[in-house]
Amino acid sequence: MRTCFIIGNWKMNKSASEATAFVRELAQQVTDLAGIHVGITPPFTALHAVREALGPAPLFLLGAQNLFWEEKGAFTGEVSGAMLKDLGCHFVLIGHSERRQYFGDQDAWTNKKILAAIRHGLHPILCVGETLQDRDAGNTNLVIQRQLRAGLAGIESPSLADMTIAYEPVWAIGTGRAASPEQAVLVHRMIRGTIDELSGLDAGRHVRILYGGSVTPQNIADFLISEEIDGALVGGACLDSACFATLITVALDSKPATA
Ligand code: PGA
Repeated sequence: MRTCFIIGNWKMNKSASEATAFVRELAQQVTDLAGIHVGITPPFTALHAVREALGPAPLFLLGAQNLFWEEKGAFTGEVSGAMLKDLGCHFVLIGHSERRQYFGDQDAWTNKKILAAIRHGLHPILCVGETLQDRDAGNTNLVIQRQLRAGLAGIESPSLADMTIAYEPVWAIGTGRAASPEQAVLVHRMIRGTIDELSGLDAGRHVRILYGGSVTPQNIADFLISEEIDGALVGGACLDSACFATLITVALDSKPATA
């Protein structure tokens, strides 16, 4: 059974003190997750403060927005998997479209980052998605299959079956124009098929696939109602604690709890 996972992608938002206040507010509004997973990804500079604010038995999983694949050394401005693990991170986003677009993250890099995450016991979340140009040209499947094949090269089951993939159409991110649940379901099925091919087994049905792109408390139920959609990667709607708490409550009502 694939446990529903809702992740708040904070991007470059919130100082350490703002982050701490946010976590305290959220914890007052959400007290029981009834078997679903909820993750938050503060910027690197707020990870320690958030870890402290979450306390000894955190309700929310802590994640990072990126990592670098080397263990240590002369890589100015980068952060390693070991450093994130040491701060109490549980998961890490890899290959978000903003990383690909603005910071040159390539498919080959996402692969190195996933392998580094696995090496350090961090759960990797590989983000894939097509641009509007790709979609209009009929290349959605082609582009996503390329991102998957390159990003997941050399990763075998059980690590493969254990992965989480976030399908985020680039044209839906931050635009208020979410994909339709039908569009998302078609791509999620294609992703499962590609993972089956890569694993040579049936890993596709074990992989958790989240939808991301303009998810809100108002539309999340339309996505989660589908068996194909195992959760959401949420940007804009995760930054206000009341909004994110409402979104989590809707998710709790929409997905059957798992142990
Ligand atoms: P959005 O961002 O919810 O603001 O569209 C999603 C994301 O980039 O992960």
